[in-house]
Amino acid sequence: MSELPSVTDLGHGDPWVLLHSFPIDRRMWSAQSEALASAGHRAVTLDLPGFGAAPRMTSDPPSLDGYVDAVLASLDALRLDRVTLVGLSLGGYVALRLAARAPRRLGALVLADTRAAADSPETRAGRVLNLGLVRTKGPGALIEKMLPHLLAPDAPESVRATLRAWASEQSVGGITDALLAMRDRADATETLGALRCPTLLLVGSRDTITPPAEHAAMGEAIAGARVEVIEGAGHLSNLERPTEFSEALLRWAGSRPTSP
Ligand code: MLT
Repeated sequence: MSELPSVTDLGHGDPWVLLHSFPIDRRMWSAQSEALASAGHRAVTLDLPGFGAAPRMTSDPPSLDGYVDAVLASLDALRLDRVTLVGLSLGGYVALRLAARAPRRLGALVLADTRAAADSPETRAGRVLNLGLVRTKGPGALIEKMLPHLLAPDAPESVRATLRAWASEQSVGGITDALLAMRDRADATETLGALRCPTLLLVGSRDTITPPAEHAAMGEAIAGARVEVIEGAGHLSNLERPTEFSEALLRWAGSRPTSP
């Protein structure tokens, strides 16, 4: 269906759009896209600007709004008026920003392993170190530093190897844009209370970057939200427990109320 090089469009039915985490690309959603398409949904995955096959954003300085502009342009190009938007970690930051700017485009929302709060001073300082690391030693060095935090200690070696490969293929420019956009993003907590669409929060039980307690608090702030924990998974819960993650999406899709 899509001829855009940075978009994969699978299946037919109600459209879902899945936004990836940092520092990888839309390939992270292949298991969930197939599960959604097999269950009668349409699954669109797209590379955020500067990742995978997508050109870097033009907004200067780089910002979450630069990502949102690109997602909205893709929705328009695909003639998708209203979608179920899924965002994991960086993808969740982008999804929440899109929810604030264009709530009418959301039929439903899934926020996974993410947060509404802005970076803490410690996290901002870490971004500065990571900017230096990726500029001097490249994406491979950055993913080596990040891996122990992204996955549960007993995550399969195959997932570790895939992550290394995907992250090493990303451009320094795309990664630095994302680090700056994440570092400078505003607090989005107020957006949670304004959400009016069915919302699912998913988190790995062993996510130490955006832990379950933060998802429980976000769930309290969103009217009617469902919160589910993916047992045993770390921060990249959909990669570590692909079947459980897909099943959680489909269970919720089968039971959620329709958007007002
Ligand atoms: C991600 O998985 O997208 C990152 O951990 C997000 C972040 O660094 O805040």
